Amino acid sequence: MPVIAHETRDVISLIFFKDRWNIAGYLKERGAVMKLIHVFFIIALAAAPASCDRTPAMQYEKDPASVELLGVIPDYPAVRFVVFSDTHYHDASLGSSGAAYANYLKDDSKLLHLSGEILDAGMEKIAAEAPEFIIIPGDLTKDGERINHERFSDKLGKLAKRVPRIYVVPGNHDINNGMACRYVGDATEPVESISPEEFAKIYADYGFSNSLARDESSLSYAVEPVAGLMVLALDSCKYRENRPGKHTETSGSFSEATMKWIEAMLIRSRKDKKAVIAFMHHGIVEHYPHNEKYYARFIVDRYERVSDLFAAYGVRLVFTGHYHSQDITMKKLESQNRFVFDIETGSFVTHPCPYRVISIDRHQSARVESRFITSIASKPGGFEKYSYDYTYNGTLGMVGKTLDKYMVSASDTRSLAPDIARAYLAHLRGDEKLPEKPTATDGLGLLGRLTMVFMGTLIEGWNTDLPPADNNISMNLKTGEWR
Ligand SMILES: [Fe+2]
Ligand SMILES: [Fe+2]
Repeated sequence: MPVIAHETRDVISLIFFKDRWNIAGYLKERGAVMKLIHVFFIIALAAAPASCDRTPAMQYEKDPASVELLGVIPDYPAVRFVVFSDTHYHDASLGSSGAAYANYLKDDSKLLHLSGEILDAGMEKIAAEAPEFIIIPGDLTKDGERINHERFSDKLGKLAKRVPRIYVVPGNHDINNGMACRYVGDATEPVESISPEEFAKIYADYGFSNSLARDESSLSYAVEPVAGLMVLALDSCKYRENRPGKHTETSGSFSEATMKWIEAMLIRSRKDKKAVIAFMHHGIVEHYPHNEKYYARFIVDRYERVSDLFAAYGVRLVFTGHYHSQDITMKKLESQNRFVFDIETGSFVTHPCPYRVISIDRHQSARVESRFITSIASKPGGFEKYSYDYTYNGTLGMVGKTLDKYMVSASDTRSLAPDIARAYLAHLRGDEKLPEKPTATDGLGLLGRLTMVFMGTLIEGWNTDLPPADNNISMNLKTGEWR
């Protein structure tokens, strides 16, 4: 029983305090004096008044009239472009067989073993769309391996012959990744990752060398792919916190210096009468109810501050990735007609392997259409079903492991895991609907029921589509209405 009690506490602290606030784990094995000191700090932190928040105000908050003086929000030029994301490219030269590689695939629901084929098929389809430019919001490589970046950049080179303007930003996997490795038989061997400076060098032709401006304190930059449209490519990753041999920091943030640079670019765009779109790896709004509670690391730190900044300056469209789902959610401040759409695009290596085509017309209507990779070289037919089954089975395995950790019985896991996996895949695909029947908890054991108390809102969240629609939608960029 003490073991069960300990696990139960862990579940509670994980859910309510997120893992970084795992109080039970934090205090475990500490001496009495240390415990007292920790408890003191925890109480002091909890009691600290909100006024201790020293976040500096942005220019538009300090002086709202200054934004009014910038005049009306410029119209978007008519334009057509593509976004695809989270390609997680893994080159076969880093190993594609053996026990160690099989082991990696077993613990991951991504279609890594097909990343090259999916990329080739996707790039072919995208080139045939003949967009004016392409944006890619990060996680270009499996784990930031130099070889994967170089091969990925080679593939971009081929695509650029048909679509010359391509822009990238890093994702959390791409830089200073301590897990960069090759697979040799039953072992893994570390391989070189890349620094931020090397990222800018490898992708010089994809934003960095032809930018209007670059942020000195991050890999953010601004470009103007068509006259009258500024594209802000924003680096929200925390690669400075990554350590050798460790997983990368998943969460994202903007430093104060980068926030200032973004605002300066937004002011410049208004003075120059250019409309703005932005793209970045992390989300800027919650994509389902309780997103922040369960998976805060997938939304940029202080996301309200970031989405408010975009909304204040009339940036209507922000393109994101990271969570691998097809989801559009908007932030709307009714009183001031301020709004911004966060258009998250799923991953090339996760079902449904999507990309999006965005067309803006001169009447300020933006049409977003989603397309899916349904055929690759080795699976000319049936790839859609294969990718669904692969992602579903991989998710089922991971859910099983998590429930096992919480000592949920095997029979309870068999009852719960399919519903949890289905809910997750529904969120990945977008336009999800609540199932007619909620997950049945009758007949579950104590830990099964307890887990459902905590996970129930997550499952419901994944099954709940916050407005607007996710895959095919028209938005009025003047009013925020959509259909
Ligand atoms: Fe990713
Ligand atoms: Fe990511």
